[in-house]
Amino acid sequence: MTTTTTVRSAARVTDAVKVYGTGDTGVRALDGVSVDFPAGRFTAIMGPSGSGKSTLMHCAAGLDTLTSGTAHIGDTALGALDDRRLTLLRRDRVGFVFQAFNLVPTLTVEENITLPLDLAGGKGDREWIDALVDVVGLRDRLHHRPSELSGGQQQRVAVARAFAGRPDVVFADEPTGNLDSRSGGEVLGLLGRAVRQTSRTVVMVTHDPVAAAHADEVVFLADGRLVDRMTAPTADKVLDRMKALDTTAPLGGPS
Ligand SMILES: Nc1ncnc2c1ncn2[C@@H]1O[C@H](COP(=O)(O)OP(=O)(O)OP(=O)(O)O)[C@@H](O)[C@H]1O
Ligand SMILES: [Mg+2]
Repeated sequence: MTTTTTVRSAARVTDAVKVYGTGDTGVRALDGVSVDFPAGRFTAIMGPSGSGKSTLMHCAAGLDTLTSGTAHIGDTALGALDDRRLTLLRRDRVGFVFQAFNLVPTLTVEENITLPLDLAGGKGDREWIDALVDVVGLRDRLHHRPSELSGGQQQRVAVARAFAGRPDVVFADEPTGNLDSRSGGEVLGLLGRAVRQTSRTVVMVTHDPVAAAHADEVVFLADGRLVDRMTAPTADKVLDRMKALDTTAPLGGPS
């Protein structure tokens, strides 16, 4: 795929097809999606339930494999990697935030944040971790356990952990799905700040137009196809687009 933009892509999929199962019971979750996620930007993936958002994220992040098509993180083709190299790539170059915070209950906030670095056997970059702690506003909670934090605070720990290893790209699947609107807003503001202040890349799956409005750009999926992209999104514009998606067939074709 050629592209006219000069922005480097942090992650991309080309002609991505994902079929779950086989034969009559097979589900075509991705039906030929080509999309790039530009470096240094915050991109949201939206679409109706079952449109393939999580599948796209999992395949782009190397958590799952495509049936056909290619997925790249930076210049690395994921399909060319064996399991060991894929595991290393996920550990060293990708961060994850999920709806369930997935913190280790026996570790402190600080230990949870540096866990990926400890697992990688490196000491990490102390200044970077320090700056992250301030970005997520957890300075006074570093020695607490997750159970002593609110849901919003726990998700902020998960966000800091995702960025700890300076990954090329952080993927988040419904990161505010378990939070009330105020805590959710804080986590979204934080993701946006992490992108703008530290030049990182975030790709976030959400079904919430208010959440999507925090992104620089929104890509829309319907029935496993990319149907639209929107820059400078507002919650109202995203909501209008979603309403239209629920009633019209996907446009298909190249984006
Ligand atoms: N492991 C699986 N096995 C079989 N089918 C699956 C599997 N995972 C997803 N699917 C199907 O693939 C399609 C896309 O699912 P996906 O989870 O990507 O949708 P989504 O857009 O993330 O939806 P939601 O907003 O509800 O989370 C759906 O029809 C779903 O039922
Ligand atoms: Mg999903």
